[in-house]
Amino acid sequence: MSGPVGTAARSDAFSGIRIAPSILSADFARLGSAIAEVMDAGARVIHFDVMDGHFVPPITIGPLVASAIADQVHQAGGVLDVHLMIERPELQFSEFARAGADCITFHEEATPHSHRALGAIRELGCLAGVAINPGTPVEAVAELDGMADLILAMTVNPGWGGQAFIESSPAKVRRLKDISGEALIQVDGGIGTATVGRMAEAGATLFVAGSAIFGADDPAVAYSEIAAAVGVSAGD
Ligand code: DX5
Ligand code: ZN
Repeated sequence: MSGPVGTAARSDAFSGIRIAPSILSADFARLGSAIAEVMDAGARVIHFDVMDGHFVPPITIGPLVASAIADQVHQAGGVLDVHLMIERPELQFSEFARAGADCITFHEEATPHSHRALGAIRELGCLAGVAINPGTPVEAVAELDGMADLILAMTVNPGWGGQAFIESSPAKVRRLKDISGEALIQVDGGIGTATVGRMAEAGATLFVAGSAIFGADDPAVAYSEIAAAVGVSAGD
């Protein structure tokens, strides 16, 4: 189990332009080394995809694996960014907080109680995020201003790494930016050197990249190339 990271440190780690490697595409037989490679290259936000076989077809990883990597991530000055693609997400918040999550994001489509869910995550001391699928209009999160620290706009349909970026995403993120208030905007799916710049121009600041980093021959180089494309250097 990992020691807690203060709220200010959490906010700091998520602020500014950040590339968040998604370990979904990493080699799970050597997960610790894969995380070390990208953190040595400058990554500070490690994205952790949880799928339950219901909200999306695949089943991935849960609190046990989060707990296994949290100390490593925190000791390297990073944060664990948990993306829940699960039904009834409220039932799992405390487990992930206990496992060392710094931000917990659930899907708006997975609960009728987004407002209450965001409050519950903050009460656990984590940053609170809400995600919307490509088919969900930005208006679905318009009433959550002040409650969400982060809004995640999916730029592919959730469930798998390596899918093609949905080309209408920049326009959607521009609309989201108009109503998102203080919340950070994160994008996830099909992000790489060819797409990250367009999403930054649209207003996103947190960029999840899975296959573009861990599917590359050298994940550290791939991370650095995506970061450089939006002006982030290793010391930022
Ligand atoms: C997909 C996950 C993503 C995934 C992205 O549902 O939420 O985080 O790892 O993979 P890429 O970057 O390959 O599209
Ligand atoms: Zn994700």
